Amino acid sequence: MRLGVLTGGGDCPGLNALIRGLVKRGAHEFGHAFVGIENGYMGLVEPGLTHPLTEEDIRGILPKGGTILGTSNKANPFSYATREDGQWVERDVSDQVLRRCEELGLDGLIAVGGDGTLSIAHRLVEKGLKVVGCPKTIDNDLSGTDQTFGFDTARLIVTEALDRLHSTAEAHDRVMVVEIMGRHAGFLTLESGIAGGADVILIPEIPYSVEAVVEKLRRRSTRRRSFSIIAISEGAFPQGGELAVLDAAEAIPGRGVVRLGGSGKALADLLARHIEAEIRVTVLGHLQRGGSPSAADRVLATRYGCKVLDLVSAGQWDHMVALRAGEIIAVPLSESRKERRVDPAGELVRFTKSMGISFGD
Ligand code: F6P
Repeated sequence: MRLGVLTGGGDCPGLNALIRGLVKRGAHEFGHAFVGIENGYMGLVEPGLTHPLTEEDIRGILPKGGTILGTSNKANPFSYATREDGQWVERDVSDQVLRRCEELGLDGLIAVGGDGTLSIAHRLVEKGLKVVGCPKTIDNDLSGTDQTFGFDTARLIVTEALDRLHSTAEAHDRVMVVEIMGRHAGFLTLESGIAGGADVILIPEIPYSVEAVVEKLRRRSTRRRSFSIIAISEGAFPQGGELAVLDAAEAIPGRGVVRLGGSGKALADLLARHIEAEIRVTVLGHLQRGGSPSAADRVLATRYGCKVLDLVSAGQWDHMVALRAGEIIAVPLSESRKERRVDPAGELVRFTKSMGISFGD
């Protein structure tokens, strides 16, 4: 078979491991040929963005972050943004995508991405394209799968950052506020907050009370060492307050989702009204998505990449690979649209609270 491969949405560590697993198994076991499509769906709209993807191309990519295919989180073929006469105009170019796949002689398309990329894949299937999906994101917020690759690496990066911030926080008796990615899901903040020993963990699923956070900081400051580490999700917000937004969805043509940022600074400003300790804010930003994938992410991504080919062989289009109870299985692509969130009453939150760590509620 001749299969197109694209990576869409924000990159994450492990994408190259997935591409390697796919191409290696595809070539060795099935004799498939692959076409690399660059910059997500953009590569099926704009000319000159496809190339043969061979074993030669995947040599040495396993430990590399990013994606050798490039990616885009703005190239939605159903509302594709182009600049005309100085204005952004959005058009449905999905028919063009179907024609392009035909011209390329593709027997199927493998779309690797988060909820955005996978819901576009589902819509393309409805139009007659044969697509199999593969979930990825550092946010771990897709309900169809127990874990996405990229999450483990990001959790390690954030944990290391929290470890490092401890020593400087302690030396200066400061309150360190650390803003962590994850969009509207708190998994990355919660798990790295636990692993990195945060004193306060603020996640979108539990709107926080400034008073409760202040109270926790005051209790700590009665001790000889009074520093505190606050891990806050970019999507966390105060009770009765608002999300911290960098760009509204409408401000980013073709993307359709809000760009979050600033929750750490917003919290620091609120806290400064109540406490005397010095407060510093660290925004980890895209450091959380960069660099080499962890061993766990390499293995998960490799398993996904290999399993995708079973779905292709079985003609299980409109499905994606997913991890469930340790097994890699196929689930309908529509599952990717269901968002997963931290359960505020779940075991992890309960145990964390039982250790005296505050969620600001
Ligand atoms: O979905 C992955 C993610 O890193 C989110 O955690 C974050 O909100 C967003 O992407 C950032 O997007 P961008 O790279 O476009 O700034």
